Amino acid sequence: MKSIIVYYSYTGNTKKVAQDLKEILTEKGEIDSIELSSIDEAKSFLGQCRRAFFKKRAQIAPVNLDLSKYDLICLGTPVWAFKPAPAMNTYLDKCSGVEGKEIILFTTYGSGRGNEQCLNYMQGILAKKGATNFRRFSVQQGEVNNKESVLSEIKSAIS
Ligand SMILES: Cc1cc2nc3c(=O)[nH]c(=O)nc-3n(C[C@H](O)[C@H](O)[C@H](O)COP(=O)(O)O)c2cc1C
Repeated sequence: MKSIIVYYSYTGNTKKVAQDLKEILTEKGEIDSIELSSIDEAKSFLGQCRRAFFKKRAQIAPVNLDLSKYDLICLGTPVWAFKPAPAMNTYLDKCSGVEGKEIILFTTYGSGRGNEQCLNYMQGILAKKGATNFRRFSVQQGEVNNKESVLSEIKSAIS
């Protein structure tokens, strides 16, 4: 099985979860991982909230957008103002080759408000591109260093 993890992480929580996911998927086959980098991210909390809330797209550093060679595609973002981070929105818009693929969407979050909305928004963009097979999991920010808890979330999503 060939898998890819594409994620955005501003303060490292989603990155941590992506690393745990990579560890698990490595046991199942080949795995690539891409950390998205935003060129024009707002620096302030309010600026980030505003851009995310209004579903803005970020300029991202060049990355592979063609996902057609992967069997499993994992996409992760922090929840920002009930939505994905703008860098993930850009990737979701631009990626191709997701038709008929297994998709795992994952988030990290603080209060949990808007977490489902964020996942639904990601799923909606990919569904319009022909993806149908979705699984999802989320990790609260206080749990990202609790490896046992993260691995159990991941395993329940991928089993
Ligand atoms: C700009 C901003 C907006 C956020 N909005 C939400 C939110 O709507 N709901 C929520 O549960 N957490 C929210 N959070 C908390 C983050 O989702 C959480 O800290 C996440 O783990 C950060 O991931 P990262 O370290 O990968 O960037 C927000 C954080 C930031 C910086």
